[in-house]
Amino acid sequence: MCGIMGYIGKNQGLPVIIDGLSKLEYRGYDSAGVAFYKDGHIEIVKKKGRLADLKSALREMPVSRIGIGHTRWATHGVPSDTNAHPHTDCSGRIAVVHNGIIENYAVLRKDLILEGHDFVSETDTEVIAHLIEKYYDNSLEEAVRKALKHMKGSFAIGVISKDEPDKIIAAKKDSPLIVGIGEGENYIASDIPAILSRTNKVYIMEDNQFAVVTPEKIEFTDFSGNSINKEIYQVPWDPVAAEKGGYEHFMLKEIHEQPEALRQTLRGKIKAGRVELDNLAIDAEKINKIYIVACGTAYHAGLVGKKAIEKLAKIPVETDIASEFRYREILWQPNDLMVVISQSGETADTLAALREAKRNSIKVLAVTNVVGSSVAREADEVIYTHAGPEIAVASTKAYSTQLLIMYLLALYLAQARKTCAEEEIRKITEEIINIDEKVEEVLKQEEKLKELAYKYRDVQSTFFLGRSLDYAVAMEGALKLKEISYIHAEAYAAGELKHGPLALISEGVPVLSLITQDELVEKTMSNIKEVKARGAVVIAICKHNLQEECQECEEQILLPDMNPFLTPIVSVVPLQMFAYYMAVFRGADVDKPRNLAKSVTVE
Ligand code: AGP
Repeated sequence: MCGIMGYIGKNQGLPVIIDGLSKLEYRGYDSAGVAFYKDGHIEIVKKKGRLADLKSALREMPVSRIGIGHTRWATHGVPSDTNAHPHTDCSGRIAVVHNGIIENYAVLRKDLILEGHDFVSETDTEVIAHLIEKYYDNSLEEAVRKALKHMKGSFAIGVISKDEPDKIIAAKKDSPLIVGIGEGENYIASDIPAILSRTNKVYIMEDNQFAVVTPEKIEFTDFSGNSINKEIYQVPWDPVAAEKGGYEHFMLKEIHEQPEALRQTLRGKIKAGRVELDNLAIDAEKINKIYIVACGTAYHAGLVGKKAIEKLAKIPVETDIASEFRYREILWQPNDLMVVISQSGETADTLAALREAKRNSIKVLAVTNVVGSSVAREADEVIYTHAGPEIAVASTKAYSTQLLIMYLLALYLAQARKTCAEEEIRKITEEIINIDEKVEEVLKQEEKLKELAYKYRDVQSTFFLGRSLDYAVAMEGALKLKEISYIHAEAYAAGELKHGPLALISEGVPVLSLITQDELVEKTMSNIKEVKARGAVVIAICKHNLQEECQECEEQILLPDMNPFLTPIVSVVPLQMFAYYMAVFRGADVDKPRNLAKSVTVE
């Protein structure tokens, strides 16, 4: 997820672009850059690091009335000056900024190199610049249209040319893009916050829409050139609210971003019912054992990964929290594999475990959300989640996309080891393809979860129960609640309660019970009876088809009917939402809870 911004008009463009990018840093901040027209040329200044580094590289703002800018969240190519956007063609005639993923960039790059184009970066975006150059005769607009025909994947782009410095070309497919309407000036941006200090009148571009933006005019067409009339949207938000997309906190925004984060993470990974993980150099057939090591929420994702891999790929998996892993005497075998999971890719405990495996010549696969992070650089193989920057300390969209990668990895290993029938793999991949819709369905229950949180906002202690996969999700639900609302929350295997913790159950204690595993519902219900008999209030998070069995629970949050194997990606959402509103009603600092940091870089 990156931020793009463009300005064309009567005033100085660069201060407007830089200010706009500063409001888009929540979309990415590993590098930034600007391209602007000056004295017949396109000049580009771009730097690895935060926007402040770019500002100091610009020193005094050059004078220009047309420009584009970009703040990056790397997906292809580590954060570096060269990989930062904007990107240009061989002759420096045009400049491009891009948010999204060009899925077929490797093929396009190869063909363009054969045609004599020289590439300087590792990014997918640079391909767009050379494609436009290839078709650029005397019309930038036509050249961009022709280039779009060859691009697969998601993109929001802004393009300028030194030969036509009176316009910005913009195009959108599967990544957000708006056009702001000014007085004698106009803007393009990834999101409203970038331009809200200049105008609250915008056009929200839709997929397959194309815009030619000049200081006085904005013309919309589809990619083929057919004219489109668009309504002006009057933005109701203030600038601060706008950065959170109108949500009160980043955490709520990121909970709602999960369907999109899942779509972006899934992009290009399932083809014809099979999982394809780009050039993952793992000899799946030889793997002896897998160690999944992580911290906090990432560890909870690993617990689901263990079950998925053991079920589908028939490989034994051990899971460990990274801070404890180092005290084990591991009996490493040559074909063991370590999988580390880390949203930030900078967690010290997880890095220490990774280095321990490397010291023992064990291959390490990293699952991380940050391209170029320490974990990504030091692991042998990397699979990225594409959740975009996660600003709230409490991890939500990173967790659900980590779960998705765990399922995809399990399927990938099962395919390679032929431990799962093709038909079963196809059935699971078909359900994974639509998993974003199941999450969207649950997000519609926000109001009900808000009411539930209001009702129980003053409790001092809670339990989260589940069996098997539900237990793994119960652990994540408990962590969410305790870390942002400061309420004591225990997650227990439902069958374990009677071995001691049941003593903690007293009148009115809320017990959130996950009931999604059809074949375990009876056993789980008997545990629920145990806690109810001691006065607990049971909040059931159950699949729709198990509603009958959960009648006796005081509260029911219904999940869509679905394959129980995949429910964790969906069943965690009500728990995230419940924890969020409990924290809000208790007046906690939701995005920045006390004592915690987003990335724990100390051991
Ligand atoms: C999760 O909500 C917490 N913020 C925390 O447990 C986090 O998951 C843990 O610190 C691991 O972080 P990482 O994924 O960046 O390695």
